[in-house]
Amino acid sequence: MAVRFLVLLSLLVLASSSSGSTTSLATNATADGGSLDILDAGSVTEFSFSNFHPEYRGKNLTVVGDADITKGALQITPDTGNEAAHFLTNKSGRVLYYAPVRLWRLEKGGGKGNASAGGKKVASFRTVFTVNVFRPSGADPAEGFAFLIAPSAGEPPAGSYGGFLGLTNATTDGSAANQVVAVELDTEKQPYDPDDNHVGLNVNSVVSVANASLTPRGIEISPVKTAKYNVWIDYNGSARHITVYMADFEAAKPASPVLAAPLDLGATVAERSYLGFAASTGTKYQLNCVLAWNMTVEKLDEPSNNRGLILGLAVGVPVGVLALGAAAALGYYVCVVRRRKLGRDQGSAITGTMIRSLAGGPREFDYRELRRATNNFDERMKLGQGGYGVVYRGTVADDHSNPAAAGTAVEVAVKKFSRASTQGQNDFLAELSIINRLRHKHLVRLVGWSHDNGELLLVYEYMSNGSLDQHLFSSAPGSRPGQPLGWELRYGIVQGVASALHYLHDQFDQRVVHRDLKASNIMLDAAFTARLGDFGLARAIETDKTSYTEEAGGGVHGTVGYIAPECFHTEKATRESDVYAFGAVILEVVCGRRPRCDIDGFHFLVDWVWRLHRDGRALDAVDPGLDGAFDEDDAERLLMLGLACSHPTPAERPKAQAISQILLRSMPTPAVPPFKPSFVWPATDGGFDTMSTTAGSTSSTVVTSTSTWSGNFARGSQNHAPAPEQDTSGSLV
Ligand SMILES: *[C@@H]1O[C@H](CO)[C@@H](O)[C@H](O)[C@H]1NC(C)=O
Ligand SMILES: *[C@@H]1O[C@H](CO)[C@@H](O)[C@H](O)[C@H]1NC(C)=O
Ligand SMILES: *[C@@H]1O[C@H](CO)[C@@H](O)[C@H](O)[C@H]1NC(C)=O
Ligand SMILES: *[C@@H]1O[C@H](CO)[C@@H](O)[C@H](O)[C@H]1NC(C)=O
Ligand SMILES: *[C@@H]1O[C@H](CO)[C@@H](O)[C@H](O)[C@H]1NC(C)=O
Ligand SMILES: *[C@@H]1O[C@H](CO)[C@@H](O)[C@H](O)[C@H]1NC(C)=O
Ligand SMILES: *[C@@H]1O[C@H](CO)[C@@H](O)[C@H](O)[C@H]1NC(C)=O
Ligand SMILES: *[C@@H]1O[C@H](CO)[C@@H](O)[C@H](O)[C@H]1NC(C)=O
Repeated sequence: MAVRFLVLLSLLVLASSSSGSTTSLATNATADGGSLDILDAGSVTEFSFSNFHPEYRGKNLTVVGDADITKGALQITPDTGNEAAHFLTNKSGRVLYYAPVRLWRLEKGGGKGNASAGGKKVASFRTVFTVNVFRPSGADPAEGFAFLIAPSAGEPPAGSYGGFLGLTNATTDGSAANQVVAVELDTEKQPYDPDDNHVGLNVNSVVSVANASLTPRGIEISPVKTAKYNVWIDYNGSARHITVYMADFEAAKPASPVLAAPLDLGATVAERSYLGFAASTGTKYQLNCVLAWNMTVEKLDEPSNNRGLILGLAVGVPVGVLALGAAAALGYYVCVVRRRKLGRDQGSAITGTMIRSLAGGPREFDYRELRRATNNFDERMKLGQGGYGVVYRGTVADDHSNPAAAGTAVEVAVKKFSRASTQGQNDFLAELSIINRLRHKHLVRLVGWSHDNGELLLVYEYMSNGSLDQHLFSSAPGSRPGQPLGWELRYGIVQGVASALHYLHDQFDQRVVHRDLKASNIMLDAAFTARLGDFGLARAIETDKTSYTEEAGGGVHGTVGYIAPECFHTEKATRESDVYAFGAVILEVVCGRRPRCDIDGFHFLVDWVWRLHRDGRALDAVDPGLDGAFDEDDAERLLMLGLACSHPTPAERPKAQAISQILLRSMPTPAVPPFKPSFVWPATDGGFDTMSTTAGSTSSTVVTSTSTWSGNFARGSQNHAPAPEQDTSGSLV
């Protein structure tokens, strides 16, 4: 069964990832003799936009800063007839392909022959896009436009307008931590530029490492009379070399490049980076439009077939199409329900009407179909049970909206809320309004819903490998005996959860906290890719609904060992408290022990690991079930990261973005003090939800091994928390 499911997934992936199915772009052999024709379909990630529809926003493309999609084009900075001083000057924006692309990987142990420079294999890619830089009302244009490789799909930095091209700002320019590479088309001469009409290669700085004027080529980026240009960028990963070509729209790719330079992406950008465009205006302005864009990137398969398949799947998992207005509407509904305290039936009816009215919302299932799918909610189909209801396994016919798959049976997990209490409905709406809008390959996807018969049901993708705890602990409900999870899978799972967390905390259009991160909420699909689930408690931070007490009816909600110490005082979930829980997850994945466990006189895993770290024996904490089959550097990295995330002071914990970078091995492992610092309340530095990205800059001022935190925790757990072994929330999807 598992094998069949895997095959089905692979087919879906193939179908979705090669939508264009064209194997070559409109490129001829390049002047330097290199041909990128080795990039055949199947070994590449490719996408092609012949125009840009507003619906791509948030789906195919991430649009941030002052960028927009209008008039069939990407407007990297605004295009408006409104008063320029307000609407066109001092702008910066970015548009990036929604999914990151793997640009390099470490080659462990060298392999055969000559190990590549830096021990990394770097992907080749080629791209071609059509750009139109327009000067409104014929005034002198500025500042510039760039093809961009960035480590995140976040906003352009504050103050990146003007000469910073949406790439860096006065503080960050030149810092290797930017991990930014760009090819700029610059229309404003700065002291460091050759002229106001040039192409440049930018590495972490707007001061180019290579530049060339376009004037001798007869190209004017933004002439008085509108011009469209095609720009081709070819990157040879094995030669570590970039070439840029530019020609009038519809002209063939020229024989000689406008710019050619050495460039080692393996040494500069994040292993998984986002590709797209950035642009800015200053006191002078221009419109920066992209009209079409093709991209082909070589896929870097892992040396082991197994791992390669997993990565292929992860990259290709199709992203659903759902309405953005949903959250607002549902949020409003939640308020209305709260205020009017509607009765059960009336509320239920409105629920249905509200959800159904959302165009492109999740699929509505007939209650009878779900009852049939689950054998009338048969006990034997039960996958798990939690605070809000029971989860069943079931099989439904695939959605007719997908012609390729119509009629096929799909396995799903059906979450049945405990019979329509008002409480249940609020949970339902809260969960739906958030999940419905989240799109990430490491989040469990919502397939549909049903509210017939006064009962509320949510339908999710079925995760054939259950939850993480079932693979780590034989004591977990539904535990799966057999091979313990291998090291590579464990590392990949931690990475997956980290990237989901980074998405929730920083990359989604609202900040979302998960609030109940733990091993039983981390689901594993057929390829053992981690998928974070159970957003019943997730809330957008801005809505001021982060109090733990809100749904739990007083006291701290959560699971012992995952709750950050400050939560017993604030009763609020924050991004920092999510990171704390993530630290507990890392440690349990590495050590194969629960966060709350008795070992060597310690009551919490973190305290035991910290002691081993003090004694310089941290690696002794690694799960003996692995039988020594693990990478010591990576194990050290995970353990130190786990401790750094467990820092008693919220502001000292690394942020999700830094965590992702550390796991990608593109940032150093955090330094962890030998003794666990004391928990101090109130926190003297205040810093909740600050945007700083300092990783593990732990203070070593407090050196005491019996931390006051433990004392507070014990007190707190008596008052609020469930008994240690009793995991009330259970294993939901
Ligand atoms: C982009 O690719 C499509 C095919 O996928 C092709 O028709 C089109 O000409 C390409 N655009 C450019 C500018 O090369
Ligand atoms: C590109 O290749 C096509 C045929 O594939 C040829 O007709 C065209 O002349 C070539 N263009 C250049 C600039 O070499
Ligand atoms: C990349 O450069 C190497 C030489 O370093 C060359 O052998 C190879 O053919 C080039 N690959 C492509 C795709 O151009
Ligand atoms: C945009 O995304 C949708 C669904 O994710 C996909 O079907 C469509 O092909 C994509 N369009 C382009 C131009 O990539
Ligand atoms: C744009 O920024 C520059 C420099 O930061 C400033 O001098 C100018 O007043 C700003 N213009 C507007 C319209 O905000
Ligand atoms: C191995 O690679 C290095 C740097 O990439 C190069 O300088 C050296 O010549 C290569 N050696 C062989 C035997 O190819
Ligand atoms: C530059 O961006 C960083 C964050 O990306 C920010 O902390 C800093 O304040 C910005 N500097 C300026 C001058 O805006
Ligand atoms: C950029 O252009 C200027 C002026 O032509 C030149 O002096 C400088 O060396 C160039 N910089 C680089 C890094 O090529």
